[in-house]
Amino acid sequence: MRVRDLVKSFGGLKAVNGVSLDVQERTVTILIGPNGSGKTTLINLITGVYKPDRGRIFFNGKDITGLPSHLIFKQGIARTFQIPQPFRKLTVLENLLVTYSRNPGEGFFSALRRDRWLKVEEGAVEKAFKLLKLLNLDHLWDQEAGKLSGGQMKLLEIGRALMTDAKLLVMDEPVAGVNPVLAHEIFKTLVRLRDQLGITLFLVEHRLDIALQYTDEVYVMASGSIISKGKPEVVIADPQVIDAYLGG
Ligand SMILES: Nc1ncnc2c1ncn2[C@@H]1O[C@H](COP(=O)(O)OP(=O)(O)O)[C@@H](O)[C@H]1O
Ligand SMILES: [Mg+2]
Repeated sequence: MRVRDLVKSFGGLKAVNGVSLDVQERTVTILIGPNGSGKTTLINLITGVYKPDRGRIFFNGKDITGLPSHLIFKQGIARTFQIPQPFRKLTVLENLLVTYSRNPGEGFFSALRRDRWLKVEEGAVEKAFKLLKLLNLDHLWDQEAGKLSGGQMKLLEIGRALMTDAKLLVMDEPVAGVNPVLAHEIFKTLVRLRDQLGITLFLVEHRLDIALQYTDEVYVMASGSIISKGKPEVVIADPQVIDAYLGG
């Protein structure tokens, strides 16, 4: 994914002020920066929640600037949200199958009843189990999603995003509010998705202590601009970055 000179203002405030970046395929790339620096606005632009005032976004060689979010999704960019919202009464497996279906609708839900859902899409069931295995959720396939732990829900949300053939996963703080043991598990899972499925991950993350160990590339934002980028060990030693975090 390539972003060139992106600008987005809210009234007089330039929340994103001329951002360019390259997210290489099959990497875990994270975006960090102080509160209010424009991180969420940037990923809202990339995923089509907002249209940029200026600048371009390219994915897979296509210009996707200004496309509505469902069309960006169709191009293979999936967003997982900070607070996962599975269908709580459906099982883990059913949650994946619902996501796979192009047009869920009423008919699909009734088809999910016991003896019938297996007929829905054989390929889909196979794909769902493959993902559940990668996510270490396969033993929970028949459990109601509403009964999962917070960490398991996040994994399920990732699984649902991947049922759509997404090539780029965009996440806003995937391990916010998750205990450290689970947070490491989630990052290890993301690395596994990169290595085994060739997925690209672009994440906003605050928990640098955990995230940086699993990260290929870091971009740092402050006041709407990219102020540093590179390998984690280089970026965290950059005086500009230290300034942005400590200087307020
Ligand atoms: N929808 C909006 N309307 C007005 N101002 C916004 C909106 N979204 C974000 N902002 C402002 O843009 C700036 C960047 O916000 P945001 O992208 O959420 O930062 P971050 O995610 O880095 O904390 C902040 O000053 C925020 O108050
Ligand atoms: Mg944010």
